[in-house]
Amino acid sequence: MRRVSIFGSTGSIGENTVDLIARDLAGYEVVALTGGRNIARLAAQARSLKAQIAVTAYPECYEELRAALEGSGIAVAAGPAALIEAADRPADWIMSAIVGAAGLPPGLRALRHGTVLALANKESLVCAGPLLMETARRYGARILPVDSEHSAVFQALVGEETRDVERVIITASGGAFRDWPLERLAEATLEQASSHPNWDMGQRITIDSASMFNKALELIETKEYFGFSPDQIETIVHPESLIHALVGFADGALMAHLGPADMRHAIGYALHWPERRDLPVERLDLAQISSLNFRAPCPKRYPALALARQVMDAGGMTGAVFNGAKERALDHFIAGRCGFTHMAELVAQTLEQTGANPLLREEITLDNVRAVDQMARKAVDEALSHSAAAQPLPAVWI
Ligand SMILES: NC(=O)c1ccc[n+]([C@@H]2O[C@H](COP(=O)([O-])OP(=O)(O)OC[C@H]3O[C@@H](n4cnc5c(N)ncnc54)[C@H](OP(=O)(O)O)[C@@H]3O)[C@@H](O)[C@H]2O)c1
Repeated sequence: MRRVSIFGSTGSIGENTVDLIARDLAGYEVVALTGGRNIARLAAQARSLKAQIAVTAYPECYEELRAALEGSGIAVAAGPAALIEAADRPADWIMSAIVGAAGLPPGLRALRHGTVLALANKESLVCAGPLLMETARRYGARILPVDSEHSAVFQALVGEETRDVERVIITASGGAFRDWPLERLAEATLEQASSHPNWDMGQRITIDSASMFNKALELIETKEYFGFSPDQIETIVHPESLIHALVGFADGALMAHLGPADMRHAIGYALHWPERRDLPVERLDLAQISSLNFRAPCPKRYPALALARQVMDAGGMTGAVFNGAKERALDHFIAGRCGFTHMAELVAQTLEQTGANPLLREEITLDNVRAVDQMARKAVDEALSHSAAAQPLPAVWI
């Protein structure tokens, strides 16, 4: 029996993880499931997987969760400290699938127990890559990438030496607006940005795909996880989303990883690693697909990519500024307080404004990352307007 916990079990990655585990429940002991506000779903998952504990990130949701699990024997808890306590519960494999920087503290805590951390939460590496990797090393823990692109790179590197790698190419679908005229982008609505051409994902990552902030995070993630230099990391628009990444070697060989646009592939690989097991995903019919297309990303359409380069070059805690500003700009876009293209402008402005701040050169600790994140979110609020500045910052993370 493998002991598993799923942080963010009620989200898109979480549900896909639950699906894989539920298919073979006899093989797993489910320790902790955590969610946010979707209490009905969290309680249903906890009952069906017979979890030891269910945790909501929000203290105000405690009573609803307690009532939903009454009589089940499943322990219930709420709040950020309860998430950390859940990460302290012994487990062999932990899925980190909370969205946003809020996923960092529990993932970091789990690593201190030497566990295998399946990392979907890309913000952890972007905000605190060196801290995360060093914590894993120090405590003998293992981080396995779950982002499909990084899982693809990881798989292409099996049996290879990283010193033989010339370049890594991360593919991008191009998102909802890949074929829109540039002049229309500024008027893109929330509904239009929330629909992805290929993948079924949470709302925030779907909007980040339309703006390419998602790909920007992934470029930084590639640098932090694999240790490649920024000039080795490329991206290309591949509208079919069937090749997830390619690794180019010193002899000119290019290894591509193909698979359906189904996150159960990357999750399943991380769940069964180092073995491969049968997974309930579609098998590609190449004759049916017949062609694969590629195009260079347009810098005007996707300014987030140049910002990612800036972040990779700057190092330190610039990634935490970038992510905090991006998350806050996205909050405002979702709330209708800023336009689609305005998000990249706000992030660029925040990077510019905070670039010389000595805090960014301090040691990368959880407290310092929090402080930098808060500074970036405040800068976005202040840049936007007085009404935005009046919106409270999320208590869960700050
Ligand atoms: N979806 C994908 O295909 C995909 C692919 C690669 C990487 N990722 C990454 O995986 C992570 C999760 O993405 P997703 O698409 O699964 O997101 P999602 O569908 O929005 O789900 C997010 C999960 O986090 C919980 N949550 C939200 N805010 C929280 C907070 N402040 N504290 C604690 N928990 C919180 C949500 O709870 P409630 O829903 O109950 O409120 C939910 O369980 C992200 O970092 C994303 O970039 C996703």
